[in-house]
Amino acid sequence: MTTSVNRQILLVEKPSGKLGTEHFKLTNGTMPEPKDGEALLRVRYISLDAANRAWMHGATYRSAIEANSVMAGGGLAEVVASKTPDLKPGDLVWGDTSWQEYAAVPGKHLTKIPKMEPMTHLLSVYGVAGLTAYFGLLEIGKPKAGETVVVSAAAGSVGSIVGQIAKIKGCHVVGIAGGKDKCHWLTSELGFDAAVDYKDGATFKALRAAAPKGIDVYFDNVGGDILEACLPQMNNYGRIACCGAVSQYDGVPSAHGPRGVPGLIVVKRLVMQGFIVMDFMKESSKALAELQSWVASGKLKVQEDVINGIENTPKALIGLLAGENRGKRMVKV
Ligand SMILES: NC(=O)c1ccc[n+]([C@@H]2O[C@H](COP(=O)([O-])OP(=O)(O)OC[C@H]3O[C@@H](n4cnc5c(N)ncnc54)[C@H](OP(=O)(O)O)[C@@H]3O)[C@@H](O)[C@H]2O)c1
Repeated sequence: MTTSVNRQILLVEKPSGKLGTEHFKLTNGTMPEPKDGEALLRVRYISLDAANRAWMHGATYRSAIEANSVMAGGGLAEVVASKTPDLKPGDLVWGDTSWQEYAAVPGKHLTKIPKMEPMTHLLSVYGVAGLTAYFGLLEIGKPKAGETVVVSAAAGSVGSIVGQIAKIKGCHVVGIAGGKDKCHWLTSELGFDAAVDYKDGATFKALRAAAPKGIDVYFDNVGGDILEACLPQMNNYGRIACCGAVSQYDGVPSAHGPRGVPGLIVVKRLVMQGFIVMDFMKESSKALAELQSWVASGKLKVQEDVINGIENTPKALIGLLAGENRGKRMVKV
């Protein structure tokens, strides 16, 4: 081992309003010692996810993040020492490594992954983002050729892949994103049919123009006002895939929920279903093979946004929540 210092980012206080850099602290921790059943990992890339912020609100499908602990988060890491039979030094793994340079993690909580170039694709299109887009759209949204698919946070890591898969499936695809540049990128580079800038106001009207035949599938990454604008424009028997609610994660969410629930769900016979990507992991090889073939043929473009240096992780998450990112944001440690 070349160093005895383990740089870590602590969450020193849970935010009551907007997340800021004051909620984090960079510290020099000690090098962890792997116990029996654990592997010592050198973290290579930290995945930045909108969900990192949501976890601060309390327990969900995972336990809540506590103040004064190393900030939780997924990462891509290399095994440097192992006390678990399934892993050896040099193996590449995915797991909850937290925001630090080194981590000792039980082998049973790590997924060994094949090495590939570029390694970053293992966090984007072949990681949680790609699989969430794939399963959420195809298994929950169930789009058919010719239908209209709308996706929010469309220029983000999940949304940008959702829209492209929907195009591959022959749908009319509308992305909702913040700002003219992002919207232009969706249509000019990623092949979306139309894009709506929700920061421009008038989202409802712009959506009506972009999806004149109504919406058959809405892939909802944001909840809140955008969900409210989509609901009345859903076609009968439409499907809403509830992937996340990023508009509610940072700061104080608006007092009312989307109007139209459940009235519009009843009269339009909508199916509105939440999902967590982990539920589909046993089918991941089929999904990965299909994603790889689309990337290889150029039908699916991969957009990554790599920030350098563990010390920049808090700012990078704050920036993601503010919409700085295009595609999958991650930190090279
Ligand atoms: N269900 C699952 O298993 C699962 C797995 C992974 C991720 N997710 C969900 O997927 C969604 C995307 O997460 P991600 O980590 O991939 O992040 P991301 O989409 O790469 O980045 C988040 C984006 O959200 C947009 N945003 C922020 N505040 C917003 C607001 N008030 N209204 C509308 N858009 C807003 C920003 O783009 P703009 O510039 O367009 O505002 C920002 O770029 C999240 O809801 C997350 O919880 C779910």
